[in-house]
Amino acid sequence: MNMNQTLLDYLQRILNAPVYDVAIESPLEQAEKLSKRLGNRIWLKREDTQPVFSFKLRGAYNKMSRLTSAELARGVVCASAGNHAQGVALSAKRLGCKTVIVMPVTTPRLKSDAVRALGGNVVLHGESYSDAHAHALEIAERDRLVFVHPFDDPDVIAGQGTIGMEILRQHQHPIHAVFVAIGGGGLISGVAAYLKAVRPDIKIVGVQMEDSDAMIRSIRKGERVTLEDVGLFSDGTAVKRVGEETFRLTKNLVDDFVLVDTDAVCAAIKDAFEDTRSILEPAGAIGIAGMKKYIAQHNIENESLVAITCGANMNFDRLRFVAERAEVGEAREALFAVTIPEERGSFKRLCEVIGQRSVTEFSYRISNAKQAHVLVGLATNDRQEAKAIRTAFTEEGFESINLVDDELSKEHIRYMVGGRSQASQNEHLYRFEFPERPGALMRFLSSMHPNWNISLFHYRNQGADYGRILVGIQVPDSDLKAISNFIEGLGYPCVEETQNPVYRMFL
Ligand SMILES: Cc1ncc(COP(=O)(O)O)c(C=O)c1O
Repeated sequence: MNMNQTLLDYLQRILNAPVYDVAIESPLEQAEKLSKRLGNRIWLKREDTQPVFSFKLRGAYNKMSRLTSAELARGVVCASAGNHAQGVALSAKRLGCKTVIVMPVTTPRLKSDAVRALGGNVVLHGESYSDAHAHALEIAERDRLVFVHPFDDPDVIAGQGTIGMEILRQHQHPIHAVFVAIGGGGLISGVAAYLKAVRPDIKIVGVQMEDSDAMIRSIRKGERVTLEDVGLFSDGTAVKRVGEETFRLTKNLVDDFVLVDTDAVCAAIKDAFEDTRSILEPAGAIGIAGMKKYIAQHNIENESLVAITCGANMNFDRLRFVAERAEVGEAREALFAVTIPEERGSFKRLCEVIGQRSVTEFSYRISNAKQAHVLVGLATNDRQEAKAIRTAFTEEGFESINLVDDELSKEHIRYMVGGRSQASQNEHLYRFEFPERPGALMRFLSSMHPNWNISLFHYRNQGADYGRILVGIQVPDSDLKAISNFIEGLGYPCVEETQNPVYRMFL
């Protein structure tokens, strides 16, 4: 079939897809804050507001509603680690058919429970999605059940294509580009098929994660490639091999592609939250992350751009990571390793360079008689500011490394600064609490008696109302009275932990 015939075929399939039996026409909302920041009119197509918190029910229902009554009576089978499973389970409930949903044993309980709650018969099998997929095909063959593919099926693609139809109905003015996350390619294929049939001037831009980019690699190579491994942060788009039909459609209809990284996706989750007060899952925010990068790369101004926010099945335990990385992704936090001389007063000089800046992290452990390495996190407005801070460190004679792009530091080292030290004689350990106000940490540091050497320091801003810091101070026995007077004078709650056995074990 040539592309014109293909587009006509999909147009008919999309216009006839009965998705509103289960799906809503999701809102197309302008993101006011993001629009202002990016100098364009940014619209979010809110597929995260669907009944199962993703667009996946559109394709699954369109496919399943076309089955014969005999097929429905036998039931359907699918493999999925999350959103597709919920789409199939909800559709099956509506159509009164049985489902077998094969999920990898590693599927978070939250997702398998959501499928069971919709009446899905969950079979846990295999370590990965590929194992689950193979098992689902065996069941389909053995029990003569229809296999509902998550993306590589014209009816599934057409179901997702109803999103394109709604966008054009909801926004009848010019649109410069629409940004779509790609996993196996079903969503972008359907949306592109509709838009290119009706408004071919609108650019379609596909967005993938750097560590899960099977579609972009396939397009570059001119044939489908299979990735050995995929990153799982954005689990909704973690696909090793794209579909045959989705590859054909994407190759012919999609104008451009963008790759994004984890930090950028975390920042996009925050952007969406600031405008909508909703929390997207990583795959759901990829479109926004790609749009931001595309705007910057192509200097786009004053245009209307749409990002599909395609899912919100976020595990609650991920939020901490997302919040932490969002700051770095937005360049609102800079992380440095600063080297200062191990001598009295240099800690204070470091505090003076930092001045009134808001400190997000401060970790240090004495290790060497000459030099001290301090891990410093500071709130910034952009990457330029991080450069200016480095210059200020250099002017004070402190060497520094900017760690903002260093995975090792962001993932591990920041949690591991410390350890046992030969140089920590006479160390006393104190745990303090102080109100989390700008400048409070620096006031604390600069009020230390200059004769007492700080041999350990740990502080991380966790978003609580009280800052918690751990300080090791080397105090000669003759000064013990003086230090307790100092602590009393500070007026901050403090517990001495010098006798804590865990301190002795690890530090
Ligand atoms: C939230 C979310 N976004 C994007 C995708 C990718 O869709 P597709 O596989 O059709 O490219 C999925 C797929 O499950 C998803 O759940």
